[in-house]
Amino acid sequence: MSILLTGITTSGTPHLGNYVGAIKPSIEESKKFKDTFLFLADYHSLIKNQDPKLTFQSSLQIASAWIACGIDLDKVNFYRQSNIPQILELNWILSSVTPKGILNRAHAYKAAVDSNDKNDPDKGINAGLFNYPILMAADILLFDAKYVPVGSDQKQHIEMTRDIAGRFNNTYGKTFDLPEPIISEDISLLPGLDGRKMSKSYNNFIELFSSEKKLQKSLNQIITDSLLPGEPKETKDSILFEYFSAFVSKHKIYDIEKSFKDGAGWGDLKKMLFNIINEEIKPLREKFDELVSKPELVEEILIEGENKARKKAEIKITEIREKVGIKALNG
Ligand code: TRP
Repeated sequence: MSILLTGITTSGTPHLGNYVGAIKPSIEESKKFKDTFLFLADYHSLIKNQDPKLTFQSSLQIASAWIACGIDLDKVNFYRQSNIPQILELNWILSSVTPKGILNRAHAYKAAVDSNDKNDPDKGINAGLFNYPILMAADILLFDAKYVPVGSDQKQHIEMTRDIAGRFNNTYGKTFDLPEPIISEDISLLPGLDGRKMSKSYNNFIELFSSEKKLQKSLNQIITDSLLPGEPKETKDSILFEYFSAFVSKHKIYDIEKSFKDGAGWGDLKKMLFNIINEEIKPLREKFDELVSKPELVEEILIEGENKARKKAEIKITEIREKVGIKALNG
């Protein structure tokens, strides 16, 4: 039986790009699997963000967003990484078979070192950033995940997970399956308002669950050329058209293409886009707002997921501890 697993770092508020590139495809993908693990990587987020308030609020918002977008809670194991202590146990065990050299080669760590002065290469770099790939391997291997949907920036982490799993297997006997990434670039990626990757750091993002008014205002900021109403517009290289493509079904996209060719005004096209996106988001936004205002509901859902996930984690960690020789002395 193949298992799907993915983690979401809890830093920030979900944006429309996360919805199109991660939330929607992961929920779709999860329908094809009998067993799915979806979790908040809150320990991972501590490496980048050390503002307790932000960590706390972001956990509530991201959990609420995923629930509002319709994960099947009967089927999906939905939990916080921090409430499955076996992940940290495995983290330590794996760190003992991971050569430091492979961590030296991790893109995120290398980029941080490269951006520092040569005389002080480790300035501002915490050990958490260095060890990040091991914690991620523990997330994945503890639940025997076979498929891991991630952004292309995470591909190296999955390769490292395979490497670490292989080393453990070679040392202690076959214990882990090697996971494979499902790269979300094969799915659709939504550009930011200016056409670059949608990202908090470029400040070109649209919050997923902002008010209708704010959504409309943001969509109006999508950069277009200065062609006037009546002048035919190109769909190729149009940021606005990419938004349509992300939200409109294949057979309806021809109507949109025709509107572009027939010279609809940018203002009217943006209004049309707002209506399409808002129709899809509106019921989700209502659910999201309700959940955020009733955190006890979200807490209850997570605790239930954590109880389920912990049972599976307990079985696997016992097997792993025995493999390395940690067990009852009379056993
Ligand atoms: N590192 C991932 C990211 O930044 C989040 C993550 C943590 C993850 N653990 C994981 C993703 C395990 C997949 C599997 O997007």
